[in-house]
Amino acid sequence: MHPDPHTVLPVSTDWWRSAVVYQIYVRSFADGNGDGVGDLAGIRSRLPYLADLGVDALWITPFYPSPMADHGYDVADPRDVEPVFGDLAEFDALLADAHGRGIRVTIDLVPNHSSHDHEWFQAALAAAPGSPERARYLFRDGRGPDGSEPPNNWPSVFGGPAWTRVPDGQWYLHIFAPEQPDLNFANPEVVADLEETMRFWLDRGVDGFRIDVAHGMAKPDGLPDMVPMEDTGLLADHGPGDLRFDQDDVHAVHRRIRAVLDEYPGTMAVGEVWVSDDARLAHYLREDELQLAFNFKLLTAEWTATDLRDAVTDSLAAVAGTPAPACWVLSNHDRPRHVTRYGGGELGTRRARAAALLQLALPGAAYLYNGDELGMPDVDLADEVLQDPIWERSGHTERGRDACRIPMPWSGSERSYGFSAQADTWLPMPEGWAALTAEAQVGDHASIRSLYRSALALRASSPAFAGDGLDWLPAPDGCLAFRRPGGLVCLVNLSGAAMPLPEGQVLLASADLGDGTLPDDSAVWLHA
Ligand code: NOJ
Repeated sequence: MHPDPHTVLPVSTDWWRSAVVYQIYVRSFADGNGDGVGDLAGIRSRLPYLADLGVDALWITPFYPSPMADHGYDVADPRDVEPVFGDLAEFDALLADAHGRGIRVTIDLVPNHSSHDHEWFQAALAAAPGSPERARYLFRDGRGPDGSEPPNNWPSVFGGPAWTRVPDGQWYLHIFAPEQPDLNFANPEVVADLEETMRFWLDRGVDGFRIDVAHGMAKPDGLPDMVPMEDTGLLADHGPGDLRFDQDDVHAVHRRIRAVLDEYPGTMAVGEVWVSDDARLAHYLREDELQLAFNFKLLTAEWTATDLRDAVTDSLAAVAGTPAPACWVLSNHDRPRHVTRYGGGELGTRRARAAALLQLALPGAAYLYNGDELGMPDVDLADEVLQDPIWERSGHTERGRDACRIPMPWSGSERSYGFSAQADTWLPMPEGWAALTAEAQVGDHASIRSLYRSALALRASSPAFAGDGLDWLPAPDGCLAFRRPGGLVCLVNLSGAAMPLPEGQVLLASADLGDGTLPDDSAVWLHA
């Protein structure tokens, strides 16, 4: 018997429309069993911290059995828990505890590929070309007289070709690492298995999913060559001509996903949809598809008033004709953290404080990445400790994403900053982080952690945040100002000089307003 997970939560079927969702990169959040790797017990032990911070929901990155070629995004069994992270009983306990504190729990769904250790892929390797076992993946004969060249020119996102040859001479497709074979979504068995995975977790009581590579899954008939990446000019964001992503048939998969969610009122899915064309992005947000799609425009914007304003305007325009609200992201486990993107050090932190008020003032859902609230920066790591498959697959030309995945510092007085009982954490933690720890910041009203807490409390309680949409207000060069229908005014100053405060009651500021002006690189909320 599972605990009834919905009894203590406020009844709301569209809680996600303005939710603040806290992303937990499970390896790096908190280590409950002392092996140097974060886990479910660690998350459970830190629920009081998360409740105090005031988040509405969690997104927990993959914790399923995995050989960890891509740190869990290579799933060997999507309906179980990796022993490094705990077990199903621990997951159920975490879910019940989170719900008991009014925090919803969403988890990662990784449909596009499995691990090479998945029993299906092992069966496919053992079976013959043309077999039903191989038809769950994308096996093809190679090109060239002896089939020794890959079936097409597609590159892997992690470097090198997207194809690996097996001993009998066939090749299989992997858009990511060779340990992540792409599944064949034209095969009904694959879609049925995805639905079974969703029901497995929904029956346990999860509140929704973050869908990995939600613009993947469907592949074009015949798997033709794509426009070479270097000719697209879109190295990160997959545009037209990149046939690996955003194929029209993907929407049939999303309709199936939504149909399952609709059987469980109050559940939702947010998609990782790296699609640059706003009209095509909007297709994923039709009423029978995803409830939310991450908008990565804030995450990719430079710290300039023009860039930020364009990011906000374009993001709102992208969802305007859809039932979905916008969904704002400043950082995640795949990109440099925004403290670092904004210049690092004291400057980066000052800007990150302002960015927090910008993000949390915008209409729609907001996703925080664990450590955003502590102002965590990226960390330069030595070559020999790098773990991301990108490092090896790029021939040591790209360092990968480890820098933004450093374990969370909880306490300055303990080993490994209280992240783990063990000194040897899965990625090393730097010296000199005592001031960054949760322990140091929670009691300090001037800390970025306290700023986040105040911002979340206001966002949850003040009528100023009511209503969708915003109106831009006239603002001096280098400044952004907008007003929400409920009366919230957000002003962000990137002008290089202090500026006078407009009329209104100050609700919160990212910097000291001592002389009645808003300093450079800071933001203020007013009720006007
Ligand atoms: C997106 C995830 O966020 C990333 O971490 C992962 O490597 C790829 N999808 C492949 O699953």
